[in-house]
Parts: sequence; structure tokens; C-alpha cells
Amino acid sequence: MKKVLVIGSEGQLGQELKSLIPTVDWATFTFTTLDTLDVTSKEQVDAMISENYDFIINCTAYTAVDKAEDDQELANKVNADALTSIGQAAKAIKAKVIHVSTDYVFDGKNHRPYIESDATNPQSVYGKSKLLGEENLINSNPNSIVIRTSWLYSTYGNNFVKTMIRLGHERDELNVIFDQIGTPTYAYDLAKVILHIIQSDIASKIQFTPGVYHYSNEGVASWYDFTLAIHKEKGISCNVKPIETKDYPTPAPRPQYSVLNKAKIKETYQMEIPYWLDSLKQCLKKLNN
Ligand SMILES: NC(=O)c1ccc[n+]([C@@H]2O[C@H](COP(=O)([O-])OP(=O)(O)OC[C@H]3O[C@@H](n4cnc5c(N)ncnc54)[C@H](OP(=O)(O)O)[C@@H]3O)[C@@H](O)[C@H]2O)c1
Repeated sequence: MKKVLVIGSEGQLGQELKSLIPTVDWATFTFTTLDTLDVTSKEQVDAMISENYDFIINCTAYTAVDKAEDDQELANKVNADALTSIGQAAKAIKAKVIHVSTDYVFDGKNHRPYIESDATNPQSVYGKSKLLGEENLINSNPNSIVIRTSWLYSTYGNNFVKTMIRLGHERDELNVIFDQIGTPTYAYDLAKVILHIIQSDIASKIQFTPGVYHYSNEGVASWYDFTLAIHKEKGISCNVKPIETKDYPTPAPRPQYSVLNKAKIKETYQMEIPYWLDSLKQCLKKLNN
């Protein structure tokens, strides 16, 4: 039986993966949390990845995008330096690594969906640290897949969907940015894709093919559209007003346009991707239960 190590199992993606494991009978899984493995400690990483794992999924990240502007050191340690430790330890045991990155590696000036080979130009400390992490991993363990995703939400942890539900209940009126365009991604869908990549390799159906891939749900939305959809599905009657980015200043700049082109992952791994609104409905249904 193949062995999979999932690092960072208490985040949104980590918990979605954990929730899927009871349905899996083609590998055994070990999960770590911040308490059992702090990825900023090379000693801890080396100790954990000394056992023979076949695959390692890294779900850890410093994801507080605005806080990172004042906390560059820790953001870099978690999002960049740790990927060298993980990559080196994985290479020593010949493990294949799947790591997750972000649309924030782009500057958002495109007018068509980003492909993997488009020039990166991160505008925030978070985006820069994540880009460095991609490079550190691929340089230290070429047998790695990096999946860039966007606007992640789930039933677990704090995220935009939960915040908009709470604010929609608390307030009569809400201002939401309409001039940042991207695609919401249900972490459950991403978790299934990661398992599909590993299972396809184990079953010798589709070989593990290292490199960078883009994955989000299908379609396009602004944060304003996303909010209206959340409120509509939840039956929340709040007056949501579209505002411009300049009217909602944040410490970290966000890309104005960060839609990801997913042709590469769809072709390589022969998959269809759910439309963002359908996935949102699924997540809200789960939240209601
Ligand atoms: N969230 C988004 O909108 C978004 C968008 C695009 C890409 N991504 C990427 O998608 C991936 C998954 O994101 P997510 O939303 O699931 O993140 P998340 O919910 O913030 O989970 C990240 C996990 O990493 C843990 N962690 C932080 N520092 C650590 C350390 N030193 N050692 C071990 N664990 C540590 C966190 O623990 P604590 O919570 O205790 O700190 C948390 O459980 C990340 O790579 C992220 O960059 C996310």
C-alpha cells in the first residue's frame, strides 16, 4: 500500500482532504498539524520525512495576506524557506510532492486567463513568498507538482463565504469590491483533484507529471458577484453595493484580474471542473447541515 503524508491538516484544504480519506482504499494517510510538525523547523521536517512516504501533500501556508506585509520574516519562513526543507527531505526518500500556490503570484494586469508560463510579478509580501516557495520546491525536488489556485473557501476555517454570511446577517448594507475579477474555488474540489492525481499515478493510469498547474473552479466572478450569489443562496436580504478597489484600501495590493486558465490540468489529468456557482451551492448545503 502506498503511503501519503499530508502536512498542515488543520487548514481549509487539509481538513477537506481529511474528510475524503474514509472513501480511499488505495493508500494509507498520515496527517500532521502545526503541533506535530512546524515546517519552519528543518529538524522537524527532516525527522518527519525520514520515513518512506511515496507522496507528500503540503497544505501549510501563511495565508494572512495583509498581516504578511508587516510579518515578512514569518511569511517567508512558512511559504518559502520551508519548501526547500520539504523538497530536500522528500528528494532523499524519493517522494513525489504536491504543493499549493496562489493566483497572487501574478500582478493582475492580464485581460485573459493566466496560463502557467505567463510572467509572474507578485505585488504583495504573501505573493512574493509563495512564488519563492514554488521555486524552492521545484529546485530542491524536481519531482513536484505545484497547483496554483484562487479565492479558496470551504466549510472549514474562516473564509470569504462565512464572512459574507455573517456580515449579511449583521448589517443592512454592505460595500463589496466589483473591480477585482477571479474565480472562487471550493477547497473540497481541489482536495479531490489532488487525490485524483495521486490515485492516477498509483493505478498507472496517468503518470505523475511534475510542473506548475492552474486549478480553480470554472467561470469568472467579482467579489461583488460572489457576495450576491452567497446571499441569494442563503436568503439573506442585505443591500450589497459595488465599490471600487480604491475605495477599500488594504495593506497588501491584490491582482485586479487573476482568472486562471485550467487547460493544462484538465488535459493532463483528464478531468472536468465544476462551475463555481454549483460548487458554492454544494458548500452552502453542507454548511446548512
Ligand atoms: N485561502 C485562499 O483564499 C487561498 C487562495 C489561493 C491559494 N491558497 C493556497 O492554498 C493553500 C491552502 O490554503 P488554505 O486556505 O487551506 O490555508 P489555511 O486554511 O490558512 O491553512 C494553512 C494551515 O497551515 C498551518 N501553518 C501555518 N504555519 C505553519 C507552520 N509553521 N507549520 C505547520 N503548519 C503551519 C496553519 O496553522 P494555523 O492556522 O494554526 O496558523 C493552517 O492550519 C495554501 O498554500 C494557500 O497559500 C489559498
